[in-house]
Amino acid sequence: MMDWTDRHCRYLHRLMSRNTLLYTEMVTSPALVRGGALHLLKYHPSEHPVALQLGGSDPVELAEASSIGAEACYDEINLNVGCPSDRVQSGTFGAVLMKQPDLVAQCCAKMMEASPVEVTVKCRIGVDDQDPETVLPDFLERVSAVGVTRFSVHARKAWLQGLSPKENRDIPPLDYDLVYRMKERFPHLHLSINGGIQTLQEAQDHLARGLDGVMIGRAAYHNPLDVLGDADRLIYKDDHSISGDVVVHRMLPYIQSHLDEGGKLAQVTRHMLGLFAGKPGARMWRRVLSEGAHRPEAGTALVLEALSHVTDNQQAAGE
Ligand SMILES: Cc1cc2nc3c(=O)[nH]c(=O)nc-3n(C[C@H](O)[C@H](O)[C@H](O)COP(=O)(O)O)c2cc1C
Repeated sequence: MMDWTDRHCRYLHRLMSRNTLLYTEMVTSPALVRGGALHLLKYHPSEHPVALQLGGSDPVELAEASSIGAEACYDEINLNVGCPSDRVQSGTFGAVLMKQPDLVAQCCAKMMEASPVEVTVKCRIGVDDQDPETVLPDFLERVSAVGVTRFSVHARKAWLQGLSPKENRDIPPLDYDLVYRMKERFPHLHLSINGGIQTLQEAQDHLARGLDGVMIGRAAYHNPLDVLGDADRLIYKDDHSISGDVVVHRMLPYIQSHLDEGGKLAQVTRHMLGLFAGKPGARMWRRVLSEGAHRPEAGTALVLEALSHVTDNQQAAGE
């Protein structure tokens, strides 16, 4: 997610779940190939498995970007066919490509030729006045014909005129049933569902309906402990769990090395604000970090100070 799932965010999220697949922010292929965005490829080895998401519509450029991503040892290269932002529309990237499935297929074919790493696609169910009942199966048919077998489907249309990117994540209605029907129609494809999923219980319900995966965006970011922190146990049957205060303590050396390299505290802690969402002390945790982390002298002591508000509250509540 652009501006959210940067490497600091992913490092944090990986501490909470060792099995979930994490995604980078979308990086456009021109930015990678023509230079300037190579720093966006940087990640910590602990982040695996991690997918690099690319945006673009030029098969040759996307192929080159995929090869760069594979060389950087990403575990998957994902093509964005879902982003509705204006900037992206103007470059013929993202959701507008739902109107050009043959071009998407061509892009994927070139990407697969160039990359030893699996190429996957994230798409919508359609855009504007398209009929998802015909557009989505046609899209899956044409793109899978070149060998793509994994798709994540954001189960709502993008309306490219008149809605902001944010509104396009909430206003077009969700149609989960269509995605279930796609799984029945294309049983050989690995289909993940995305859009509006808030809890792991909902994720489990989608898996019980036969889907192969569930992609959770905003809920995982805003409430990482409840989503990622229980995912290993509940979804992957892996006996791994971690408490919020242990996560914070594990972040401290990472934060310190970021500061030692000249980074700012807030660049990391902004992703940690939701760590105690809904728990006693959460408000003070957020407040201390959001008010203090921008100060030039701010360091790990501020994080410990913020944490003390949570632990004091836990002790008072007898936890
Ligand atoms: C701040 C933000 C940035 C996003 N950036 C991307 C992106 O770079 N690539 C992408 O495929 N989707 C992006 N999305 C969309 C999410 O991946 C997801 O499809 C959408 O939020 C619906 O899922 P959710 O309800 O679980 O959040 C972004 C969403 C948000 C809130």
